[in-house]
Amino acid sequence: MTDAAPFEAKGAEYQGPQRVFSGMQPTNGLHLGNYLGALQKFVALQETYECIYCIVDLHAITTGPDPKELANRCREVAAAYVAAGVDPKRSTIFIQSAVREHSELAWIFNCVARMGWLERMTQFKDKSGKHAERSSVGLFDYPVLQAADILLYKATHVPVGEDQKQHLELSRDIAQKFNTDHDAPNFFPLPEPLIQGPGARIMSLRDGAKKMSKSDPSDMTRINMTDDADTILQKIKKATTDPNPLPDSKEGLAGRAEVENLVGIFAAVTERSVEQVLTEFGGKGFGAFKPALAEALAAKLSPIAAEMRRLTADTAALDAILKDGAEKARAVAQPIMADVRDVVGLWRA
Ligand code: TYM
Repeated sequence: MTDAAPFEAKGAEYQGPQRVFSGMQPTNGLHLGNYLGALQKFVALQETYECIYCIVDLHAITTGPDPKELANRCREVAAAYVAAGVDPKRSTIFIQSAVREHSELAWIFNCVARMGWLERMTQFKDKSGKHAERSSVGLFDYPVLQAADILLYKATHVPVGEDQKQHLELSRDIAQKFNTDHDAPNFFPLPEPLIQGPGARIMSLRDGAKKMSKSDPSDMTRINMTDDADTILQKIKKATTDPNPLPDSKEGLAGRAEVENLVGIFAAVTERSVEQVLTEFGGKGFGAFKPALAEALAAKLSPIAAEMRRLTADTAALDAILKDGAEKARAVAQPIMADVRDVVGLWRA
């Protein structure tokens, strides 16, 4: 999107507090891509930043989930956040629709974002397929609501997987155009995506050209956060590779997308670099590498899955975390929204 952005940053740099915001959709179970691309970073960022982590149920309804299931799906994601190490005392964990200002700011941003900007969004094109005219307007508008999520808190940093890069660029464009249109330089920060590292783009276990995704019909293409050690081992053993041994340098991964993916997963899950993994496994075959990878995955995911099960069994405790989180989120969002209303010139109710 940057090439399409007609607005140059001007004036002094944004002076407000540094703040992290990110979110995940409550749709049908989280997988390794969600964990390595986002959640693992959510946990690490708590050391340095004030962090706000959302469960985006308003985004989920763009694709019509079962209303009877939605609340429990939200609880599962909240449980995953906490089980992975997001500390509800230090960070804010809440459900998007519990803070009404998300929808209000999204409407205002609808009047800032340009049709042409949204028409370029590749995720909409992928999700709507050949029948864009039959998609909900909400699905088209999805990235505008995402910009509202981030900017409602004047967040400066947004940890996400690589697939969200274009949406983040749109958020920056919306922030910049809002500031310019309303002659309010630096009112909104231009949020910085945090996408680096080997976990940012986890691909399908069966096809190195497709991202790991919960919408893939085959469960063998992904590792779910709740898979047990045996299931993980079976999936990794059956993952697509080639007959050659692992290379001993990064250059040797060129043209071997599936191998590159598995090495990247190993690096991300053990919090090492790709080079370090290749130093250990370069020249060895997949008969040695795959069981080691499966073991590292199970060692990381099994305790999180056990904690998720414990947390989801105690609905009252989870709901208390989410209620407290929504209160903390509102306390940040409402004064910012009041300022936005003033800047835009809306009626002071
Ligand atoms: P969602 O639920 O689709 O994805 C949640 C997070 O997981 C990352 N992710 C991946 N990372 C690496 N490899 C993969 N295969 C993979 N698949 C998913 C996503 O990049 C994301 O970080 N639109 C957002 C939700 C959202 C949001 C926001 C995020 C709504 N408002 C505001 C940040 C800020 C999404 O993709 O959710």
